[in-house]
Formats: sequence, C-alpha cells, structure tokens
Amino acid sequence: MTRQYCHIGSRTIAYLDSAPGDAALRTYVLLHAFPLGANMWEPQMRTIPNGWRLITPDLRGFGGSTELDSVSALSISDYAEDVADLLAELSVERAVIGGLSMGGYAVFALLQSKPDIIEALILADTRAGADSPEARANRRNMLALVDREGPQGVAREMMPKLLGKTTIETNATAEATVRRFIKQQSPVAIRGAINRMMHRPDSTALLGTIGVPTLVIAGEEDTLTPVQEAEKMAAAIKGSKLVTIPAAGHLSNLEQPDAFNHALSAFLVSL
Ligand code: MLT
Repeated sequence: MTRQYCHIGSRTIAYLDSAPGDAALRTYVLLHAFPLGANMWEPQMRTIPNGWRLITPDLRGFGGSTELDSVSALSISDYAEDVADLLAELSVERAVIGGLSMGGYAVFALLQSKPDIIEALILADTRAGADSPEARANRRNMLALVDREGPQGVAREMMPKLLGKTTIETNATAEATVRRFIKQQSPVAIRGAINRMMHRPDSTALLGTIGVPTLVIAGEEDTLTPVQEAEKMAAAIKGSKLVTIPAAGHLSNLEQPDAFNHALSAFLVSL
C-alpha cells in the first residue's frame, strides 16, 4: 500500500489509508508502537470490515513523517496533535481511535486534548500509568544505546521484549519483519519517542471518565505490558470489553493477526 502525505505548516505527516478520500465510510485510526512505523498495521490493512476505512499515521519522525527542526520541548501530546490535525485535514470529524503500546500513550493524550473527535477506543498492549523511576533509567540507557549503535542496537535490545515466547520459537518471519521495521526508523525518531514516553503524564485518572465504547486487547505472552495491566485498565473503564490473545506477546497484532483482526472487527461492527 502506498504511503499518503499531508503537509501541515512545516510538518509532513505520512500515513496509510485503506480508502483515500472516501467520505462515505466510517473511520478508525490505529497508532503504532515504539520503535516501529505505520507499516506494523499491514496485517490489519488486509482485513477491513465493510463500511469502514482504516488510517494508520506514522507518528512524528517515524516512517515518512517529519520530526520538527526545533525539538526542545518534546511531549507525547505532539503525537496526539498530529493525529487531530491529520483527521481535520482529511475532513474526518469523528473516528474510532486505537493504539498499541506507545500508540496507546498517544491515544490517552488525544483523549485529554480532543475527546470530542473520539467515537470509540481501542487500547492494545498498553498502560495508563507513567514511567516508574526504574523505567526512566532504562530509557536513559536506551538513549545512550541509540547514540552508540543507532536503530540496530535498539532492535537487538527490543526484539526479545516485543515478541512473545511462541513467536520467538515458531515464527522467524515475524521476527525478521519486526527487525526490518525497526531498522527503517531514524535515530531522530527513536530519540524523540524515548524522550516523549519517559515524560508522559499518568493517565490513570482518565480511565474513569471514558464514556465511549472501549476495546482493551492484550497478548497473553506480553511481558512489557502484562495482561494484568489490561485487566486493571478494563476494570476502570465502564462497559469496556477485554480480549486476550493467546500465543501473542507485545506486538499482538503482528504475532496473531487473525485473532487480533477478529477482535477488532467484532468490536467495530458492534458500534
Ligand atoms: C512500545 O511498544 O511502544 C514500547 O515498548 C512502549 C514503552 O517502551 O513504554
């Protein structure tokens, strides 16, 4: 699928779009994990429910999207701002908004800044809390690793955490795909994302205020955001639905695409 580009001020936002310009369709947006790009949603682009249009942006600096020249005050809300601006540019007034892991952090930022554009929510392999002091120390180590070795070093460090045990043991193709996706990303994007994630606010208090249909998804073998995190989130969001995906780790959409797509489609058609 060819990338689309939207230029807003000095920013370029790249995205994949299953039905460019088709205003008759309802829209859902999926935001990618760290340190990947919009193409991690390729398996979801292949299974779009009738009547729906899927848009997957590259978050700032990733894929074909640009990071700003002046990057002094990085915030997770930058990603939310880009999503809101992209949807406005595409004349999409309301959409189902979902994100996996870091993408979920951006969803929480959008929920904070622009709740009115959110028709329903999908929170996959993510958490509402901020980084612990230990997590921040790990982020600083990761920043040093990017400086020393670039995306290659990050890929080596992240791979065992991103994929579940079953995928690592049985699906060499998925492993090669994820490694390739990480190596495509620039050091600037990776550094920007680490800084944004480590300073993101705690969104736990937002959970009780969510009044739109919400699907929470968790890979059963996810060690980065264990199933208990998803259970906690689902318990705090009134009327939410929790689906766990067997034999999937953190990148549940890529590791078990059929199960993930099934949960996603069932949710969308219920709206
Ligand atoms: C991700 O998958 O987006 C990251 O692992 C999230 C994080 O490091 O907090």
